[in-house]
Amino acid sequence: VRRFVVIGQRAFVGEAFSLANLPASSGRLDVLLRCVRAALLFSHGVRRDTIVYLVLLGAPGAPQALRIEGAAVKFLRPDERSVAVLVQKAFATPRAGSGFVTVRPGVAVAEGGLDVVLADVGDAAPYVLEEGAADLREAALDDADAVFFVGDDVGFDEATRGRLAALGARPVAVGPVSLHADDVVAVVVNELDRRTPGTG
Ligand SMILES: C[S@@+](CC[C@H](N)C(=O)[O-])C[C@H]1O[C@@H](n2cnc3c(N)ncnc32)[C@H](O)[C@@H]1O
Repeated sequence: VRRFVVIGQRAFVGEAFSLANLPASSGRLDVLLRCVRAALLFSHGVRRDTIVYLVLLGAPGAPQALRIEGAAVKFLRPDERSVAVLVQKAFATPRAGSGFVTVRPGVAVAEGGLDVVLADVGDAAPYVLEEGAADLREAALDDADAVFFVGDDVGFDEATRGRLAALGARPVAVGPVSLHADDVVAVVVNELDRRTPGTG
């Protein structure tokens, strides 16, 4: 299984959430939504071997997390607006319990941030996408069961960086230029596709 974890330093879904002005009303959740599309969708299909986690560190109170599983999600469309609606509805759904709680097929939410995600990903080989790190192309990726951590438009906060280092996440880069997060996800997906064709 391929897993992507996108950390949104200011991202939240709150009362002011506005589809007409997503970047300003959601702490740049739009960056994370584009990563969902890049990780989970190919032309006319959903990648059933992929799971995406969004970590919303800007959520009021505790951080929140969202999980979308390609194997089970329904009606996932490529446009940012419909992914935004899916995320908004997921967090608005009443729920009880700890850890990830499924609120619709393939979509689960959790109170908590990176720790709740790390508990969920288990033993998958961790990689952190970092500008200037060793080239992904040269890395011996465990593409059968890997988890890739990606920052948002302002990168990783220090707490996240420290937690990932303590975890032993291997830093990898996708080239010499600092890219938008969704483009980074697309390049990683492409590299995995080249190594293990026929996914999706
Ligand atoms: C727009 S970049 C963040 C830029 C931010 N100003 C910084 O200094 O971290 C978004 C995220 O994409 C990833 N990223 C961007 N370019 C990359 C590259 N060439 N190689 C690996 N990861 C990259 C990193 O995870 C980064 O946190």
